[in-house]
Amino acid sequence: MTKYITKKSGKYWPSKAMKEIAWVNDKKIYKQANKNPVKFWSELAKKGIMWEELWDEKKTYIEKLPYFWWFKGAKLNFCVNALDRHLGRSEKPALIWVPEPIKEKPTILTYKELYDKVNKCANLLKKLGVKKGDAVSIYLPLIPEAAIAMLACTRIGAIHSVVFSAFAPDALKARIQDCKAKVLITADGYYRRGKKENLLKKAKKALRKSGIKKVLVVNRLSKNKTYFGKFLSFNKELEKVDLYCKPERMNSEDPMFILYTSGTTGKPKGIVHDTGGYAVQAYYTAKWNFNLHDQDIMWCTADIGWITGHTYAIYGPLLNGTTSLIYEGTPDFPKQDRWWKIIDKYKVSVFYTAPTAIRMFMKFGNKYVNKHKLKSLKILGTVGEPIDIDAWNWYFKKIGKSRCPIIDTWWQTETGGTLINVLPGIGPFVPTIAGLSFPGTRHAIVDKKGKKTNKGFLTQVSPFAPGMLHGVWKNHKKYVETYWKKFKTKYDTSDGAILKSGLIRVTGRTDDVMKVAGHRLATAELENTINDHNLVNESAVVPIPDKIKGETPIAFVVLEKGKPSEKLEKSLKSHVDKHLGPTSRPSKIFFVHALPKTRSGKIMRRILKNILTNEELKGLMTLVNPKCVEDIQRLIKTDEIFKNIEDKNANNLFKKD
Ligand code: PRX
Repeated sequence: MTKYITKKSGKYWPSKAMKEIAWVNDKKIYKQANKNPVKFWSELAKKGIMWEELWDEKKTYIEKLPYFWWFKGAKLNFCVNALDRHLGRSEKPALIWVPEPIKEKPTILTYKELYDKVNKCANLLKKLGVKKGDAVSIYLPLIPEAAIAMLACTRIGAIHSVVFSAFAPDALKARIQDCKAKVLITADGYYRRGKKENLLKKAKKALRKSGIKKVLVVNRLSKNKTYFGKFLSFNKELEKVDLYCKPERMNSEDPMFILYTSGTTGKPKGIVHDTGGYAVQAYYTAKWNFNLHDQDIMWCTADIGWITGHTYAIYGPLLNGTTSLIYEGTPDFPKQDRWWKIIDKYKVSVFYTAPTAIRMFMKFGNKYVNKHKLKSLKILGTVGEPIDIDAWNWYFKKIGKSRCPIIDTWWQTETGGTLINVLPGIGPFVPTIAGLSFPGTRHAIVDKKGKKTNKGFLTQVSPFAPGMLHGVWKNHKKYVETYWKKFKTKYDTSDGAILKSGLIRVTGRTDDVMKVAGHRLATAELENTINDHNLVNESAVVPIPDKIKGETPIAFVVLEKGKPSEKLEKSLKSHVDKHLGPTSRPSKIFFVHALPKTRSGKIMRRILKNILTNEELKGLMTLVNPKCVEDIQRLIKTDEIFKNIEDKNANNLFKKD
């Protein structure tokens, strides 16, 4: 079996075989790109993307902080780049969709078939009155129609806003209202662990007073269901429209999509990505990081509700004319080797997932993975949170069979595409280290004052990458406050990082954002939801390390009425499930008399976290009510359930390093 890595002076490097197939295998590229990043991206953009009209060379990159523009005034259509240009090889599979039920047949859509469906869907949206610049909300599970709907929006210049299907109705409603979506595309449901989930019921709840005029419903569970009023059958309506839809001529800087994400405040921000810059970064990062060639099959396990699903399950592979595999269901259904079976069956060559999934499979033991050869794999990727050494080693040995490099990619919803990782043809592949800024991008680790250091805050410096966000939807103030207030001319990532022998290790968020099973959640968002419960006076949420999920939220609640009880804890948890979704559910709720606060009334979450993780308590002097700390300590010590929350300190070792 071909080995794609080799070991030299204690580190893994690309083998000769990898160097031979790598698009990029000479580290000089970093220096060249860094000499003039604007020229570098300009040349790449011309080669990689089909433009209808090029930009004025002098205006390749315009910066008027806090905003910047790439390829301003250039014309293109994103969908043409993802589909039309591959029609020469129209029989090549674009999408392989694996449904959860083992007996159901997969759907394989060739580029031509996907193209036809996207064209029809685009015409359907137009028929419903959607115009260039209008927003369309997409609340779909991981089914082919999700890709079809997203691409159809890009064909007609509508802005899509995908909302994760596990989110609760309130979350969907808030997102629909914020972007004033004209149409919602949803489904009757999907399969989860063999059970039918009713998505339409949740969508209907969200729609009350949402302003949505038309709802397209994909029949995923029942083939022939009919709909009335504002609800239309996606499948049936598609039959009534023309087969070809002329692509809209878009400006490079026109918004292509909005994706809502958590920040430090309770309200999610609509991160805006434009068309041309995003296309260039999605195309090249997918191509170079995962070394995509014609015969490759890429499987990015992320849901389309997240940026990883946008860029590497759909857009990056399609821009490159690659086959992308998507899977509807739960990783361990019906057995704990479902994922490995899929890899072997479809000969997946590039596999991209999150540390939380790797840790879950580690827990199942090796017997499931040992049954599978996984010999089609060439490159493994990881994303979403820092990967600890045990997970890295297991992924490397058990999935990669010590043959494949692991590309640890650091990036964010805001950055659109990956930014810090080593390239497979260059290396080195060092456990827990993301590595180097992607050629043509620059990062600096700085102290509080913005001065360069080896351990501190991770920032990005000018010229900013082409795929970066173009503001927060209709909220300039939030954009400035979140990303530019702290370091002015540097983009603030809100992550901590360490520079080690010239390589960057990202250590995790430095703000009040948690990464729970790879999902990004704001403590404030969860607190607001808990506070909305009629028995709650106030609450504080802090994350603690978790062996599988990376982090898990713990809530401290002061009641307004009622008495603490297990029943109330349960009811609060289901209140969170109902309003935010089960991903946000706290693993434990402590009912306390008071929360530690400063004189100005600020809740000291850091103290709560230190109590939970048995760390030294600092800053007690600043508290107006220090006695409550002892009460909370006592409560935690004696709580049987909390004692059993597995490996509370699991990842501390890594985090402290
Ligand atoms: O803290 C970093 C972490 O995920 C955050 C971004 O989350 P989100 O916008 O949901 O996007 C996730 C997928 C791109 C970052 O601020 N993060 C992401 N990748 C890594 C990571 N932390 C460490 N190593 C990574 N490879």
